[in-house]
Amino acid sequence: MSLSSISNSKEVIGKIYMKQMSEPDIRTIEESSTGIYLGKTLIYSLPFFLDVSVLTSPHIAVIGMTGSGKTFMLKNFIIRNSVYSEPNMLILDMNGEYRNVVQGAGGKIFRLGKDFKINLFEFLDYNQDKAVDSVIEIIEAYTKMAKDEAAVVHNAISCAISNAEKISLRAIAETVGRNWPQLKLKLRRLAGSAVFADATSFTISSLFKSLTSIDLSEIESDVEKNFISYILVRLISESLNKESINQKTNKFIILDEAWKSVENIYLSRLFREGRKYGFGIIVASQLIGDINNVILSNSSCVLVFKVQNMEDFRILEDTGIANKEHISRMPNLDMGECFVYLSFKKENSRLKRFFIKKIDGLPIYSHRIYIGDKMELEISDEKFELATRNMQIENKARLKIANFVEENGNNIEITAFMQFLTSIGISRAEIVSYLKRMGVSDAVIVEAYERISKIAIEIKEYDEK
Ligand SMILES: Nc1ncnc2c1ncn2[C@@H]1O[C@H](COP(=O)(O)OP(=O)(O)OP(=O)(O)O)[C@@H](O)[C@H]1O
Ligand SMILES: [Mg+2]
Repeated sequence: MSLSSISNSKEVIGKIYMKQMSEPDIRTIEESSTGIYLGKTLIYSLPFFLDVSVLTSPHIAVIGMTGSGKTFMLKNFIIRNSVYSEPNMLILDMNGEYRNVVQGAGGKIFRLGKDFKINLFEFLDYNQDKAVDSVIEIIEAYTKMAKDEAAVVHNAISCAISNAEKISLRAIAETVGRNWPQLKLKLRRLAGSAVFADATSFTISSLFKSLTSIDLSEIESDVEKNFISYILVRLISESLNKESINQKTNKFIILDEAWKSVENIYLSRLFREGRKYGFGIIVASQLIGDINNVILSNSSCVLVFKVQNMEDFRILEDTGIANKEHISRMPNLDMGECFVYLSFKKENSRLKRFFIKKIDGLPIYSHRIYIGDKMELEISDEKFELATRNMQIENKARLKIANFVEENGNNIEITAFMQFLTSIGISRAEIVSYLKRMGVSDAVIVEAYERISKIAIEIKEYDEK
Protein backbone atom coordinates (compact mmCIF):
# COMPACT_ATOMS: atom_id res chain seq x y z
CA MET A 1 0.00 0.00 0.00
CA SER A 2 1.35 3.42 -0.85
CA LEU A 3 1.10 6.70 0.97
CA SER A 4 -1.53 7.97 -1.44
CA SER A 5 -3.83 5.09 -0.74
CA ILE A 6 -3.60 5.88 2.93
CA SER A 7 -4.62 9.48 2.47
CA ASN A 8 -7.36 8.33 0.10
CA SER A 9 -8.84 6.40 2.94
CA LYS A 10 -11.31 9.22 3.60
CA GLU A 11 -13.25 7.15 6.02
CA VAL A 12 -10.38 7.19 8.42
CA ILE A 13 -8.70 10.49 7.66
CA GLY A 14 -12.03 12.28 7.86
CA LYS A 15 -12.74 11.03 11.29
CA ILE A 16 -9.37 10.92 12.95
CA TYR A 17 -7.60 14.20 13.45
CA MET A 18 -4.11 13.41 12.33
CA LYS A 19 -1.86 16.39 12.71
CA GLN A 20 1.33 14.64 11.78
CA MET A 21 2.55 11.31 10.61
CA SER A 22 5.17 10.11 12.99
CA GLU A 23 6.83 7.85 10.43
CA PRO A 24 9.52 10.03 8.93
CA ASP A 25 9.68 8.34 5.57
CA ILE A 26 6.64 6.22 5.36
CA ARG A 27 7.15 5.37 1.68
CA THR A 28 10.40 3.51 2.09
CA ILE A 29 9.16 1.85 5.21
CA GLU A 30 5.97 0.76 3.50
CA GLU A 31 7.63 -0.75 0.51
CA SER A 32 10.07 -2.78 2.48
CA SER A 33 7.83 -4.15 5.14
CA THR A 34 4.61 -5.81 6.01
CA GLY A 35 2.79 -5.67 9.30
CA ILE A 36 1.89 -2.90 11.66
CA TYR A 37 4.44 -0.20 12.39
CA LEU A 38 5.11 0.19 16.10
CA GLY A 39 8.24 2.30 16.47
CA LYS A 40 11.98 2.37 16.00
CA THR A 41 14.51 0.06 17.55
CA LEU A 42 16.73 1.48 20.24
CA ILE A 43 20.15 0.84 18.75
CA TYR A 44 19.87 1.00 14.97
CA SER A 45 16.71 3.05 14.77
CA LEU A 46 15.19 0.50 12.42
CA PRO A 47 11.47 0.81 11.93
CA PHE A 48 9.81 -2.18 13.47
CA PHE A 49 6.69 -3.72 11.94
CA LEU A 50 4.77 -6.34 13.81
CA ASP A 51 3.62 -9.03 11.40
CA VAL A 52 2.11 -11.97 13.25
CA SER A 53 1.82 -14.05 10.07
CA VAL A 54 5.54 -14.82 10.24
CA LEU A 55 5.37 -15.73 13.92
CA THR A 56 4.63 -19.07 15.54
CA SER A 57 1.22 -17.91 16.74
CA PRO A 58 -0.95 -14.83 16.26
CA HIS A 59 -1.11 -14.11 19.98
CA ILE A 60 0.45 -11.10 21.69
CA ALA A 61 1.05 -10.44 25.38
CA VAL A 62 1.63 -6.88 26.57
CA ILE A 63 3.02 -6.27 30.04
CA GLY A 64 3.84 -3.11 31.93
CA MET A 65 3.16 -1.07 35.04
CA THR A 66 0.33 1.38 35.19
CA GLY A 67 1.00 4.34 32.93
CA SER A 68 3.80 2.58 31.06
CA GLY A 69 2.06 2.70 27.67
CA LYS A 70 0.16 -0.55 27.07
CA THR A 71 -3.18 0.97 26.14
CA PHE A 72 -1.50 3.61 24.00
CA MET A 73 0.28 0.87 22.06
CA LEU A 74 -2.94 -1.10 21.62
CA LYS A 75 -4.86 1.94 20.42
CA ASN A 76 -2.24 2.65 17.82
CA PHE A 77 -2.19 -0.97 16.77
CA ILE A 78 -5.94 -0.72 16.20
CA ILE A 79 -5.71 2.57 14.29
CA ARG A 80 -2.90 1.42 12.05
CA ASN A 81 -4.53 -1.93 11.47
CA SER A 82 -7.68 -0.21 10.30
CA VAL A 83 -5.79 2.16 8.02
CA TYR A 84 -3.82 -0.58 6.28
CA SER A 85 -6.43 -3.27 5.97
CA GLU A 86 -10.04 -4.13 6.61
CA PRO A 87 -9.97 -4.30 10.40
CA ASN A 88 -11.28 -7.38 12.03
CA MET A 89 -11.04 -6.83 15.71
CA LEU A 90 -13.12 -7.28 18.80
CA ILE A 91 -12.18 -5.13 21.76
CA LEU A 92 -13.34 -5.75 25.29
CA ASP A 93 -13.29 -2.20 26.57
CA MET A 94 -13.52 -2.14 30.35
CA ASN A 95 -13.36 1.62 30.84
CA GLY A 96 -14.55 3.14 27.58
CA GLU A 97 -10.94 4.01 26.75
CA TYR A 98 -11.19 2.78 23.17
CA ARG A 99 -14.34 4.64 22.23
CA ASN A 100 -12.67 7.39 20.22
CA VAL A 101 -10.35 5.04 18.43
CA VAL A 102 -13.14 2.68 17.43
CA GLN A 103 -15.42 5.52 16.34
CA GLY A 104 -12.59 7.21 14.48
CA ALA A 105 -11.83 4.07 12.54
CA GLY A 106 -15.48 3.57 11.64
CA GLY A 107 -16.07 0.66 14.01
CA LYS A 108 -19.13 -0.23 16.00
CA ILE A 109 -19.51 0.10 19.73
CA PHE A 110 -21.88 -2.09 21.70
CA ARG A 111 -22.52 -0.60 25.12
CA LEU A 112 -23.61 -3.19 27.61
CA GLY A 113 -26.72 -1.86 29.29
CA LYS A 114 -27.56 0.52 26.45
CA ASP A 115 -27.17 -1.38 23.17
CA PHE A 116 -27.53 -4.86 24.52
CA LYS A 117 -28.37 -6.71 27.69
CA ILE A 118 -27.44 -10.00 29.20
CA ASN A 119 -29.25 -12.47 31.37
CA LEU A 120 -26.33 -13.79 33.42
CA PHE A 121 -28.27 -16.88 34.38
CA GLU A 122 -28.14 -18.10 30.80
CA PHE A 123 -24.39 -18.31 30.99
CA LEU A 124 -23.71 -19.83 34.36
CA ASP A 125 -21.76 -23.03 34.29
CA TYR A 126 -23.95 -24.93 36.69
CA ASN A 127 -21.47 -27.76 36.99
CA GLN A 128 -19.19 -25.44 38.89
CA ASP A 129 -19.66 -25.10 42.64
CA LYS A 130 -19.05 -21.39 42.71
CA ALA A 131 -21.31 -20.49 39.80
CA VAL A 132 -24.22 -19.39 41.96
CA ASP A 133 -21.95 -17.70 44.52
CA SER A 134 -20.50 -15.45 41.87
CA VAL A 135 -23.94 -14.23 40.83
CA ILE A 136 -24.99 -13.77 44.45
CA GLU A 137 -21.92 -11.59 44.95
CA ILE A 138 -23.03 -9.33 42.12
CA ILE A 139 -26.61 -9.13 43.40
CA GLU A 140 -25.28 -8.29 46.86
CA ALA A 141 -23.17 -5.46 45.48
CA TYR A 142 -26.31 -3.81 44.13
CA THR A 143 -29.06 -4.69 46.56
CA LYS A 144 -27.14 -4.70 49.84
CA MET A 145 -29.15 -7.75 50.88
CA ALA A 146 -28.59 -9.18 54.31
CA LYS A 147 -26.89 -12.56 54.85
CA ASP A 148 -30.15 -14.41 55.42
CA GLU A 149 -31.65 -12.82 52.32
CA ALA A 150 -28.61 -13.89 50.28
CA ALA A 151 -29.14 -17.43 51.52
CA VAL A 152 -32.79 -17.32 50.44
CA VAL A 153 -31.83 -16.13 46.95
CA HIS A 154 -29.09 -18.76 46.74
CA ASN A 155 -31.62 -21.40 47.62
CA ALA A 156 -34.15 -20.17 45.08
CA ILE A 157 -31.56 -20.18 42.31
CA SER A 158 -30.35 -23.66 43.24
CA CYS A 159 -33.94 -24.92 43.20
CA ALA A 160 -34.58 -23.41 39.78
CA ILE A 161 -31.39 -25.02 38.50
CA SER A 162 -32.32 -28.47 39.75
CA ASN A 163 -35.80 -28.08 38.23
CA ALA A 164 -34.10 -27.10 34.98
CA GLU A 165 -36.23 -23.95 34.76
CA LYS A 166 -35.37 -20.97 32.62
CA ILE A 167 -34.00 -18.54 35.19
CA SER A 168 -34.25 -14.77 35.34
CA LEU A 169 -33.90 -12.42 38.28
CA ARG A 170 -37.52 -11.35 37.81
CA ALA A 171 -38.66 -14.95 38.23
CA ILE A 172 -36.44 -15.42 41.29
CA ALA A 173 -37.93 -12.25 42.80
CA GLU A 174 -41.42 -13.70 42.37
CA THR A 175 -40.39 -17.00 43.97
CA VAL A 176 -38.83 -15.48 47.08
CA GLY A 177 -41.52 -12.79 47.25
CA ARG A 178 -44.08 -15.06 48.84
CA ASN A 179 -42.21 -15.04 52.14
CA TRP A 180 -39.81 -12.15 51.70
CA PRO A 181 -41.70 -9.13 50.32
CA GLN A 182 -38.86 -6.65 51.03
CA LEU A 183 -36.36 -8.85 49.27
CA LYS A 184 -38.72 -9.16 46.33
CA LEU A 185 -38.73 -5.37 45.95
CA LYS A 186 -34.95 -5.21 46.08
CA LEU A 187 -34.55 -7.89 43.43
CA ARG A 188 -37.20 -6.42 41.16
CA ARG A 189 -35.39 -3.11 41.14
CA LEU A 190 -32.35 -4.90 39.70
CA ALA A 191 -34.29 -7.12 37.30
CA GLY A 192 -34.13 -5.89 33.73
CA SER A 193 -30.76 -4.16 34.26
CA ALA A 194 -27.72 -4.62 32.00
CA VAL A 195 -26.86 -8.12 33.15
CA PHE A 196 -30.09 -9.28 34.73
CA ALA A 197 -32.27 -8.90 31.66
CA ASP A 198 -35.10 -11.37 31.16
CA ALA A 199 -33.31 -12.57 28.04
CA THR A 200 -29.97 -11.92 26.40
CA SER A 201 -30.27 -9.56 23.47
CA PHE A 202 -27.23 -10.19 21.33
CA THR A 203 -25.71 -12.93 19.30
CA ILE A 204 -22.05 -13.64 19.47
CA SER A 205 -21.69 -13.57 15.70
CA SER A 206 -22.86 -9.94 15.62
CA LEU A 207 -19.74 -9.05 17.57
CA PHE A 208 -17.40 -10.36 14.92
CA LYS A 209 -18.00 -7.81 12.24
CA SER A 210 -15.01 -5.71 11.21
CA LEU A 211 -14.08 -3.43 14.10
CA THR A 212 -16.26 -3.82 17.16
CA SER A 213 -15.93 -2.97 20.78
CA ILE A 214 -17.93 -4.13 23.74
CA ASP A 215 -17.99 -1.22 26.09
CA LEU A 216 -18.37 -2.24 29.73
CA SER A 217 -17.80 1.20 31.16
CA GLU A 218 -21.44 1.55 32.21
CA ILE A 219 -21.01 -1.34 34.63
CA GLU A 220 -20.15 0.09 38.01
CA SER A 221 -18.88 -2.77 40.07
CA ASP A 222 -15.55 -4.41 39.32
CA VAL A 223 -16.86 -7.76 40.49
CA GLU A 224 -19.52 -7.58 37.83
CA LYS A 225 -17.16 -6.32 35.14
CA ASN A 226 -14.78 -9.16 35.73
CA PHE A 227 -17.55 -11.67 35.75
CA ILE A 228 -18.97 -10.32 32.49
CA SER A 229 -15.59 -10.31 30.81
CA TYR A 230 -15.20 -13.89 31.99
CA ILE A 231 -18.51 -14.78 30.40
CA LEU A 232 -17.78 -12.97 27.16
CA VAL A 233 -14.44 -14.72 26.84
CA ARG A 234 -16.20 -17.98 27.45
CA LEU A 235 -18.83 -17.22 24.80
CA ILE A 236 -16.15 -16.33 22.30
CA SER A 237 -14.20 -19.44 23.15
CA GLU A 238 -17.27 -21.68 22.83
CA SER A 239 -18.26 -20.13 19.53
CA LEU A 240 -14.84 -20.55 17.95
CA ASN A 241 -15.73 -23.65 16.05
CA LYS A 242 -19.27 -22.71 15.22
CA GLU A 243 -20.08 -21.84 11.68
CA SER A 244 -21.93 -18.71 12.70
CA ILE A 245 -18.63 -16.91 12.88
CA ASN A 246 -17.38 -16.17 9.46
CA GLN A 247 -13.86 -17.47 9.44
CA LYS A 248 -11.20 -15.06 8.41
CA THR A 249 -7.63 -14.82 9.48
CA ASN A 250 -6.25 -11.65 11.03
CA LYS A 251 -9.05 -11.58 13.50
CA PHE A 252 -7.90 -10.05 16.75
CA ILE A 253 -9.53 -10.08 20.14
CA ILE A 254 -8.15 -7.38 22.39
CA LEU A 255 -8.40 -7.84 26.12
CA ASP A 256 -6.89 -4.90 27.92
CA GLU A 257 -7.11 -5.71 31.63
CA ALA A 258 -10.22 -7.69 30.87
CA TRP A 259 -9.22 -10.79 32.66
CA LYS A 260 -6.72 -9.78 35.27
CA SER A 261 -8.51 -10.85 38.35
CA VAL A 262 -10.17 -13.92 36.92
CA GLU A 263 -8.55 -17.29 36.68
CA ASN A 264 -10.07 -17.72 33.27
CA ILE A 265 -9.84 -21.20 31.87
CA TYR A 266 -11.63 -20.06 28.73
CA LEU A 267 -8.92 -17.55 28.00
CA SER A 268 -6.35 -20.32 28.10
CA ARG A 269 -8.50 -22.24 25.69
CA LEU A 270 -8.65 -19.26 23.34
CA PHE A 271 -4.87 -19.09 23.40
CA ARG A 272 -4.45 -22.78 22.75
CA GLU A 273 -7.04 -23.11 20.02
CA GLY A 274 -7.48 -19.60 18.67
CA ARG A 275 -4.89 -20.00 15.95
CA LYS A 276 -6.72 -22.95 14.46
CA TYR A 277 -9.70 -20.70 13.86
CA GLY A 278 -7.75 -17.66 12.76
CA PHE A 279 -8.02 -15.73 16.00
CA GLY A 280 -5.17 -13.77 17.45
CA ILE A 281 -5.59 -12.75 21.07
CA ILE A 282 -3.91 -9.71 22.52
CA VAL A 283 -3.85 -9.42 26.28
CA ALA A 284 -2.47 -6.59 28.33
CA SER A 285 -1.67 -6.78 32.01
CA GLN A 286 0.31 -4.97 34.65
CA LEU A 287 1.95 -8.12 35.94
CA ILE A 288 3.31 -11.12 34.11
CA GLY A 289 2.33 -13.16 37.12
CA ASP A 290 -1.30 -12.51 36.16
CA ILE A 291 -0.81 -14.27 32.88
CA ASN A 292 -0.76 -17.99 33.13
CA ASN A 293 1.78 -20.22 31.44
CA VAL A 294 -0.57 -21.30 28.67
CA ILE A 295 -0.98 -17.71 27.59
CA LEU A 296 2.66 -16.81 27.86
CA SER A 297 3.93 -19.90 26.06
CA ASN A 298 1.39 -19.41 23.28
CA SER A 299 2.24 -15.77 22.69
CA SER A 300 4.69 -15.39 19.85
CA CYS A 301 5.12 -11.72 20.60
CA VAL A 302 5.68 -10.41 24.10
CA LEU A 303 5.97 -6.67 24.63
CA VAL A 304 7.33 -5.60 28.00
CA PHE A 305 7.00 -1.96 29.01
CA LYS A 306 8.39 -0.64 32.29
CA VAL A 307 8.16 -3.32 34.99
CA GLN A 308 9.67 -3.41 38.45
CA ASN A 309 8.41 -6.60 39.91
CA MET A 310 10.97 -9.25 40.91
CA GLU A 311 8.55 -12.09 40.24
CA ASP A 312 8.05 -10.79 36.70
CA PHE A 313 11.82 -10.70 36.15
CA ARG A 314 12.09 -14.27 37.30
CA ILE A 315 9.35 -15.44 34.93
CA LEU A 316 10.85 -13.52 32.00
CA GLU A 317 14.22 -15.13 32.60
CA ASP A 318 12.92 -18.65 33.28
CA THR A 319 10.84 -18.64 30.12
CA GLY A 320 13.75 -17.39 28.07
CA ILE A 321 11.79 -14.36 26.95
CA ALA A 322 14.50 -12.00 28.20
CA ASN A 323 18.02 -12.34 29.55
CA LYS A 324 19.60 -10.59 32.56
CA GLU A 325 20.81 -7.68 30.49
CA HIS A 326 17.38 -7.05 29.00
CA ILE A 327 15.81 -7.34 32.42
CA SER A 328 18.22 -4.86 33.96
CA ARG A 329 16.91 -2.19 31.59
CA MET A 330 13.23 -2.84 32.21
CA PRO A 331 12.77 -0.90 35.46
CA ASN A 332 14.17 2.23 33.84
CA LEU A 333 12.15 2.30 30.64
CA ASP A 334 10.39 5.56 29.84
CA MET A 335 6.72 5.77 29.05
CA GLY A 336 6.17 4.18 25.64
CA GLU A 337 9.53 2.38 25.55
CA CYS A 338 9.38 -1.38 25.45
CA PHE A 339 11.20 -4.64 25.07
CA VAL A 340 10.09 -6.94 22.25
CA TYR A 341 10.35 -10.71 22.14
CA LEU A 342 9.40 -12.54 18.94
CA SER A 343 9.19 -16.19 18.10
CA PHE A 344 9.49 -16.74 14.34
CA LYS A 345 8.10 -19.67 12.42
CA LYS A 346 11.31 -19.97 10.45
CA GLU A 347 14.59 -20.04 12.28
CA ASN A 348 16.50 -17.16 10.81
CA SER A 349 18.90 -14.48 11.79
CA ARG A 350 16.37 -11.77 12.31
CA LEU A 351 16.16 -9.93 15.56
CA LYS A 352 14.24 -11.76 18.19
CA ARG A 353 14.77 -9.64 21.25
CA PHE A 354 15.26 -5.92 21.20
CA PHE A 355 14.02 -2.62 22.58
CA ILE A 356 11.82 -0.06 20.91
CA LYS A 357 12.68 3.55 21.71
CA LYS A 358 9.11 4.60 21.88
CA ILE A 359 5.86 3.37 20.47
CA ASP A 360 5.24 5.88 17.69
CA GLY A 361 1.73 7.14 18.04
CA LEU A 362 -0.67 8.84 15.71
CA PRO A 363 -2.15 11.52 17.91
CA ILE A 364 -5.92 11.60 17.81
CA TYR A 365 -7.20 15.09 18.36
CA SER A 366 -10.70 14.65 19.59
CA HIS A 367 -10.96 17.37 22.20
CA ARG A 368 -11.62 20.93 21.13
CA ILE A 369 -11.48 23.73 23.66
CA TYR A 370 -13.60 26.82 23.09
CA ILE A 371 -13.90 30.10 24.85
CA GLY A 372 -17.31 31.40 23.85
CA ASP A 373 -17.60 30.49 20.17
CA LYS A 374 -13.94 30.89 19.43
CA MET A 375 -11.95 27.69 19.11
CA GLU A 376 -8.76 27.99 21.09
CA LEU A 377 -7.07 24.67 20.67
CA GLU A 378 -7.29 20.99 19.87
CA ILE A 379 -6.06 18.49 22.40
CA SER A 380 -5.15 14.91 21.71
CA ASP A 381 -6.82 12.11 23.62
CA GLU A 382 -3.48 11.22 25.09
CA LYS A 383 -2.78 14.68 26.42
CA PHE A 384 -6.25 15.00 27.83
CA GLU A 385 -6.05 11.60 29.50
CA LEU A 386 -2.64 12.29 30.95
CA ALA A 387 -3.69 15.68 32.32
CA THR A 388 -6.78 14.15 33.90
CA ARG A 389 -4.85 11.19 35.23
CA ASN A 390 -2.38 13.52 36.95
CA MET A 391 -5.04 15.38 38.90
CA GLN A 392 -5.05 14.81 42.63
CA ILE A 393 -8.68 13.74 42.71
CA GLU A 394 -10.74 10.65 43.30
CA ASN A 395 -11.48 8.27 40.45
CA LYS A 396 -15.17 9.07 40.73
CA ALA A 397 -14.43 12.69 39.89
CA ARG A 398 -12.34 11.55 36.91
CA LEU A 399 -15.29 9.55 35.66
CA LYS A 400 -17.55 12.60 36.03
CA ILE A 401 -15.10 14.63 33.96
CA ALA A 402 -15.04 11.96 31.25
CA ASN A 403 -18.86 11.96 31.18
CA PHE A 404 -19.05 15.74 30.97
CA VAL A 405 -16.66 15.78 28.04
CA GLU A 406 -18.43 12.97 26.27
CA GLU A 407 -21.84 14.56 26.74
CA ASN A 408 -20.46 17.67 25.09
CA GLY A 409 -19.20 15.68 22.12
CA ASN A 410 -15.61 16.42 23.11
CA ASN A 411 -16.30 20.10 22.43
CA ILE A 412 -15.36 21.77 25.65
CA GLU A 413 -16.50 25.32 26.31
CA ILE A 414 -13.92 26.33 28.82
CA THR A 415 -15.99 28.49 31.18
CA ALA A 416 -18.71 25.83 31.39
CA PHE A 417 -16.02 23.23 31.98
CA MET A 418 -14.38 25.28 34.74
CA GLN A 419 -17.73 25.86 36.43
CA PHE A 420 -18.44 22.15 36.18
CA LEU A 421 -15.06 21.30 37.73
CA THR A 422 -15.76 23.72 40.58
CA SER A 423 -19.19 22.18 41.09
CA ILE A 424 -17.71 18.73 41.65
CA GLY A 425 -15.42 20.15 44.32
CA ILE A 426 -12.15 20.71 42.48
CA SER A 427 -10.09 23.63 43.77
CA ARG A 428 -9.19 26.62 41.67
CA ALA A 429 -5.47 25.85 41.93
CA GLU A 430 -6.06 22.31 40.70
CA ILE A 431 -8.24 23.51 37.83
CA VAL A 432 -5.61 25.99 36.67
CA SER A 433 -2.78 23.48 36.68
CA TYR A 434 -5.05 20.92 35.00
CA LEU A 435 -5.85 23.29 32.13
CA LYS A 436 -2.22 24.29 31.83
CA ARG A 437 -1.16 20.66 31.59
CA MET A 438 -3.51 20.36 28.63
CA GLY A 439 -1.77 23.26 26.98
CA VAL A 440 -4.36 25.99 27.64
CA SER A 441 -2.55 29.32 27.88
CA ASP A 442 -2.57 31.60 30.94
CA ALA A 443 -4.31 34.29 28.92
CA VAL A 444 -7.20 31.98 28.03
CA ILE A 445 -7.56 30.81 31.63
CA VAL A 446 -7.58 34.40 32.92
CA GLU A 447 -10.12 35.43 30.29
CA ALA A 448 -12.31 32.48 31.22
CA TYR A 449 -12.23 33.36 34.91
CA GLU A 450 -13.14 36.94 34.06
CA ARG A 451 -16.14 35.70 32.11
CA ILE A 452 -17.16 33.44 34.98
CA SER A 453 -17.04 36.24 37.54
CA LYS A 454 -18.93 38.53 35.14
CA ILE A 455 -21.62 35.88 34.86
CA ALA A 456 -21.67 35.53 38.66
CA ILE A 457 -22.13 39.29 39.08
CA GLU A 458 -24.93 39.33 36.51
CA ILE A 459 -26.70 36.50 38.33
CA LYS A 460 -26.30 38.31 41.65
CA GLU A 461 -27.70 41.53 40.23
CA TYR A 462 -30.59 39.64 38.74
CA ASP A 463 -31.30 37.93 42.08
CA GLU A 464 -31.19 41.26 43.92
CA LYS A 465 -33.76 42.73 41.55
N1 LIG B 1 4.41 5.93 23.17
C1 LIG B 1 3.76 6.95 23.73
N2 LIG B 1 3.78 8.18 23.20
C2 LIG B 1 3.11 9.20 23.77
N3 LIG B 1 2.35 9.10 24.87
C3 LIG B 1 2.28 7.91 25.46
C4 LIG B 1 2.98 6.78 24.92
N4 LIG B 1 2.71 5.71 25.72
C5 LIG B 1 1.89 6.17 26.69
N5 LIG B 1 1.64 7.46 26.55
C6 LIG B 1 0.78 8.28 27.43
O1 LIG B 1 0.97 7.88 28.77
C7 LIG B 1 -0.26 7.74 29.46
C8 LIG B 1 -0.37 6.36 30.06
O2 LIG B 1 -0.30 5.38 29.03
P1 LIG B 1 -1.30 4.15 28.95
O3 LIG B 1 -2.68 4.57 29.23
O4 LIG B 1 -1.03 3.49 27.65
O5 LIG B 1 -0.77 3.28 30.16
P2 LIG B 1 -1.13 1.78 30.54
O6 LIG B 1 0.12 0.99 30.50
O7 LIG B 1 -2.27 1.32 29.72
O8 LIG B 1 -1.56 1.95 32.06
P3 LIG B 1 -2.73 1.18 32.91
O9 LIG B 1 -2.14 -0.14 33.31
O10 LIG B 1 -2.95 2.06 34.08
O11 LIG B 1 -3.91 1.06 32.02
C9 LIG B 1 -1.36 8.02 28.45
O12 LIG B 1 -1.88 9.30 28.67
C10 LIG B 1 -0.66 7.96 27.13
O13 LIG B 1 -1.17 8.91 26.24
MG1 LIG C 1 -4.20 0.77 30.15
